[in-house]
Amino acid sequence: MSENRENSILLSPIKIGAIQIPNRFVRSATHDFMAEDDGTATERQVQLFRRLAEGEVGLIITGHVYVNPNGKASPRQAGISEDRFIEGLRRISEAVHAFPAKIFIQLAHAGRQTKEKYCGCTPLAPSAVYEPTLKITPKEMTHQEILGIINDFILAGRRAKEAGFDGAQLHIAHGYLLSSFISPYTTRRTDEWGGSTANRLRIVVEIVRGIKGMLGKEFPLIAKLNSTDFLPTGLQLGESIEMAKILEDEGIDGIEVSGGMSEAGKGSMWQGLRSEEEEGYFVESASKFKQALHVPIFGLGGNRTFAVMERIVRDGKANLVSLSRPLIREPYLVQKFRTGQIDKSACISCNKCLNPRGIACAELRKKNGSPDSR
Ligand SMILES: Cc1cc2nc3c(=O)[nH]c(=O)nc-3n(C[C@H](O)[C@H](O)[C@H](O)COP(=O)(O)O)c2cc1C
Ligand code: SF4
Repeated sequence: MSENRENSILLSPIKIGAIQIPNRFVRSATHDFMAEDDGTATERQVQLFRRLAEGEVGLIITGHVYVNPNGKASPRQAGISEDRFIEGLRRISEAVHAFPAKIFIQLAHAGRQTKEKYCGCTPLAPSAVYEPTLKITPKEMTHQEILGIINDFILAGRRAKEAGFDGAQLHIAHGYLLSSFISPYTTRRTDEWGGSTANRLRIVVEIVRGIKGMLGKEFPLIAKLNSTDFLPTGLQLGESIEMAKILEDEGIDGIEVSGGMSEAGKGSMWQGLRSEEEEGYFVESASKFKQALHVPIFGLGGNRTFAVMERIVRDGKANLVSLSRPLIREPYLVQKFRTGQIDKSACISCNKCLNPRGIACAELRKKNGSPDSR
């Protein structure tokens, strides 16, 4: 091991709320398309998460898990909308806890970014704003439906704890339901759920209060938050930071800074990254959150090179670094970094791993016909 790695800040522990994370590497939420059709977790998922934990990721965040079937985004997505899902999910948390890693579950509702064939209804949204990539006009939610979804998230928080997860992350990014509520582009309401910053954030605040009220300070609750929608009339950085400050006052334990919305033509998974300068594409935004907040900030987007990530944390731009695609390609990436085996992920950011029959690195298969091993 090089001197450099021994003293690495990336390999030092950090606390998220009451929980100690063994290092600063986070596996950002990654939908794996590996659950049963009815949302039950599978053995294939248990093995996926076991490998990530064995590969020394400090904090693993699951893919987005639906809190209500009317918020299901795609086939083979895991659910947490009923108690019957707890048993399967517990097998995942137990597999991870055989290692020092911690695991949070990402609680989500797809909102208007789904299709009737997946969610079984006209997709729901704060306002009936046409979604051009899926060609759907969602149904504007009633006040009662909004209260129902808040309750769904709170019950999902309770199930997450019962299933042995160390914490949960609210998915408030990428145009899904909570992200669409906080965005002035997708929320055109004039009641208490629309208009001002506080009104658009109200649904999230109610969920945070509900989960924190039920599970207390011991169960960390973090947010993945859009810093921008990349739409001229959408959410912008300054207001997103303002919202994060409100959430911090409400007890949120960390913020992972992301961005994008399908119809903006610029989402969260940028392609073709090659140079070190292109890495960490949401990190400059994350550093603005870090200046304004006290809770740990997760720097995300195209993190690939050990030395670049080390600088991000050392220079105080973020407290942790999050990765998704590199850990699809190499679940043992963090271990390889720690032992000095490699300096950079081999992921070329081509997005060919988005396989609806189960995520896998298509590039690696092309190269040597087998998945990553140690
Ligand atoms: C296959 C795949 C599935 C993803 N699923 C989710 C998800 O369920 N929830 C989420 O917030 N982000 C999801 N993302 C986005 C990643 O968490 C991450 O924000 C993005 O890929 C940028 O990080 P990277 O450059 O390290 O891949 C997914 C990305 C990929 C490649
Ligand atoms: S297919 Fe492989 S190389 Fe391409 S983005 Fe996915 S993990 Fe990276």
